[in-house]
Amino acid sequence: MKYKPLSKSFYKNTRKLFMAEMEPNSIAIFNSNDIYPISADSVMPFEQHRDLFYLSGIDQEESIIILFPDAINPKHKEIAFVKKTNSHIAIWEGPKLNKEETYKISGIKTVYWLEDFKNIFQELSTQCNKFYFNTNEHYRQAVETETREDRFIKWCKNQYPAHNVAKSNPILQKLRSVKDDQEIIQIKKACDISENALRRVLSFLKPGVWEYEIEAELVHECIKNRSRGFAYQPIIASGINSNILHYTLNNKKCKSGELVLIDVAAEYGNYSADITRTFPVSGIYTERQKKVYNAVLNVKNEATKLLVPGTLWKEYHIEVGKIMTSELINIGLLDKSDIKNQDPKSPAYKKYFMHGTSHHLGLNTHDYGLLNLPMESQMVFTVEPGIYIPEEGFGIRLEDDVVIQSNGEPINLSKNIPIEIDEIESLMN
Ligand code: GLY
Ligand code: MN
Ligand code: MN
Repeated sequence: MKYKPLSKSFYKNTRKLFMAEMEPNSIAIFNSNDIYPISADSVMPFEQHRDLFYLSGIDQEESIIILFPDAINPKHKEIAFVKKTNSHIAIWEGPKLNKEETYKISGIKTVYWLEDFKNIFQELSTQCNKFYFNTNEHYRQAVETETREDRFIKWCKNQYPAHNVAKSNPILQKLRSVKDDQEIIQIKKACDISENALRRVLSFLKPGVWEYEIEAELVHECIKNRSRGFAYQPIIASGINSNILHYTLNNKKCKSGELVLIDVAAEYGNYSADITRTFPVSGIYTERQKKVYNAVLNVKNEATKLLVPGTLWKEYHIEVGKIMTSELINIGLLDKSDIKNQDPKSPAYKKYFMHGTSHHLGLNTHDYGLLNLPMESQMVFTVEPGIYIPEEGFGIRLEDDVVIQSNGEPINLSKNIPIEIDEIESLMN
């Protein structure tokens, strides 16, 4: 692997925390992701299922872990299954995890080959009453494919119809939303790599460069710094494109006088950063662009102060809406009558700022977290207000990644990435 892994004690602890939430006489099963096909013999690069990774650190396809706190044989409280390699795989793909390496990464002492899974699972199933299945209950999930986990659940229900079932996902949503210091180090590293990438763009950007050339500069810094690449599809949106929230074509030439909105960040060790900066193509913002930019920056700074323990995600968004409304009045995009007549379910500010301000960040870019629970220290959130004005030909979003503290304001992990107008202009000139 390219990245520095977390210690096995981290994974021992995540499993301990998970098992503490399980009911007696139950088994939890976690499957890796498939390697997804393209067509012919082409496949997508492998991405580990983040739950299996969170509980084991195993970053290899065709892996399973089992947690069975009440196992009769103490060896079977935690089991990892990995694929037995062979000389063909060794020649074509290189080394795969052996049992000792699997232990060293995960701290799981009992490691079997995947080919033995069904026999061992048969024995364990006779000792338990309940299976914890790991379904995807993320608030934004929209998955149309059948995952390896889905296939396992189907098989297991068919094979063992008399067992009760329970959900792993709510436990994981809760655990994964509060980060260990070691995880914050990985996210910070992803932010630091993103900083290198965005600083490189500051010295590269000028009228006439193409959005995809900016993408190439960015990915160079990611890969050079031991990231697999972008944490999500990069958005490099110049001029009018900056009003398209998920613009990923990145195929337009940047022109003098335009802004370019860059929502790009590195992953590191399967952890995401999520950063947005909006730079002036010619190295200098117009007076109007400055005004809107500073309105967005003010909202970001004020919103960040609200990210403290106890804040409710829904109420936070209502408060940020009020701050945004007042900034939009200041820059002349809304007036008092717009506010007086607004429908509280669809407030006037949404015309210019139509997405959420914050989401959890971690092993997934839109990470786990139960949104009805109050914020807690060690949760990591993005803060990403934007103002989009197609009629003026530009949109501005600014996005940082912050860690909630038990006292005071959150720590901004991406604070070294230039964001003030003066700093950006001086670096570009
Ligand atoms: N880059 C995706 C987001 O900001 O949520
Ligand atoms: Mn983003
Ligand atoms: Mn985001």
